[in-house]
Amino acid sequence: MNEKTHDIVIYGATSFVGQIITHYMAEEYGCDSLRWAIAGRSMAKLMDLKQSLWSSSKNLAVLTADANDLEALTTLCHSTQVILSTVGPYDLYGEPLVKACCQTGTDYCDLTGEMHWIKRMQEKYSEVAVKSGARIVHACGFDSIPSDCGVHFLQKHSAKKHGKPCSTINMGVKRISGGLSGGTIASMLNMTKQIIKDPLLRKELGNPYSCCPPDHGFTARQDNISVAYDEHAKSWLAPFMMAAINTRIVHRSNALSGKAYGEQFYYQEATLTGDSKAGEKRAKRMATGFKLFNLATAISPIRWLLERFILAKPGEGPSPEEQLNGEFDLRFRGQTEQGEVVKVKVTGDRDPGYGSTAKMISQAAMCLAFDIDQQTPGGFWTPATLLGDTLIERLQTHAGLTFEVLAD
Ligand SMILES: NC(=O)c1ccc[n+]([C@@H]2O[C@H](COP(=O)([O-])OP(=O)(O)OC[C@H]3O[C@@H](n4cnc5c(N)ncnc54)[C@H](OP(=O)(O)O)[C@@H]3O)[C@@H](O)[C@H]2O)c1
Repeated sequence: MNEKTHDIVIYGATSFVGQIITHYMAEEYGCDSLRWAIAGRSMAKLMDLKQSLWSSSKNLAVLTADANDLEALTTLCHSTQVILSTVGPYDLYGEPLVKACCQTGTDYCDLTGEMHWIKRMQEKYSEVAVKSGARIVHACGFDSIPSDCGVHFLQKHSAKKHGKPCSTINMGVKRISGGLSGGTIASMLNMTKQIIKDPLLRKELGNPYSCCPPDHGFTARQDNISVAYDEHAKSWLAPFMMAAINTRIVHRSNALSGKAYGEQFYYQEATLTGDSKAGEKRAKRMATGFKLFNLATAISPIRWLLERFILAKPGEGPSPEEQLNGEFDLRFRGQTEQGEVVKVKVTGDRDPGYGSTAKMISQAAMCLAFDIDQQTPGGFWTPATLLGDTLIERLQTHAGLTFEVLAD
């Protein structure tokens, strides 16, 4: 029998994305049949959030714990089977909760794309998680569920159709619309500050296998796209902002699944900008914009000005209309060593970072609470390796995503 009071606790429910998650959970599951709770550091803010829900929210439990208070976080962990956390930048606030989950055997998912922090958490707490049975799954938002599950879906189809995995997969972002929140910007800027403080970190972040276990043995060269033309996609390519996160998670999935995608697996992500001269110009503009943004945020007075006057602040983000009208369309093209091709399309019906991310991480938490085999060992997993097909099913049924095999 499960002695925990809650199935799922949403920690950081008052964050920009946490509020969207809370509203989604309330609308999708109500507050009576599912045993879930909202948590954060401010009771007043949590109560305001609770008041903003439907009247059925009177049974929703509200819990408080500061992100630096290990004792309070441990109490929180003892009360629930799964914790979903949005308290970020995770590098600044996330470690005590991961520690508490690993020590208490509590399953955990989050939205971090801070690869250096993920690596540090793996190094520090993997053994503890294995011992306690806690299943830890980072990157359960737009980075990196569509990429990680898209590759998993494509490889399953390749195995079924061709009897082997694709050794190369290129993902192209065909359409994307949405914006960035203050929390995401704070996480990106914090990472820039960390790189300036520790130049070795730049090298670590440049390693496509940085999040794989140390004995991964992968040697295939991986590319970072700047501007290029893709003959298969018949399109110019520009950098994709999330590629540095998603590619690392996908390679970790390959490592954790016993190299199911192959020893020399190649994976790349880019933005498709079109076939024409205009597509080429757009790709060049995007690549230059990307470089300039990185350069500007690396210079401390410019970063200060951007933070102070231009970029979204913590608690801010895309408007409800932008979330509702947003969408994404990702195209995956895989090829086996013998040249057989598999094409897959993954789409989402809201802005990727918030409207859609809120639904994705909620379903990841539901999957952790209700679907996975409770004998599955503890440790640091990826969305595809721990939640895989069941999550894909949930995303299609409850979260507005589609996964579709396209004709060759
Ligand atoms: N992977 C993805 O696709 C994706 C998408 C969206 C967001 N994210 C990430 O998710 C995180 C949240 O983003 P956001 O824009 O929603 O952030 P946000 O609005 O700035 O919220 C940050 C949250 O952290 C809480 N917090 C800060 N210090 C705390 C402490 N000491 N104890 C407890 N709580 C504390 C804040 O509590 P208060 O409300 O009380 O101030 C707030 O709820 C960011 O790291 C972002 O990068 C990732």
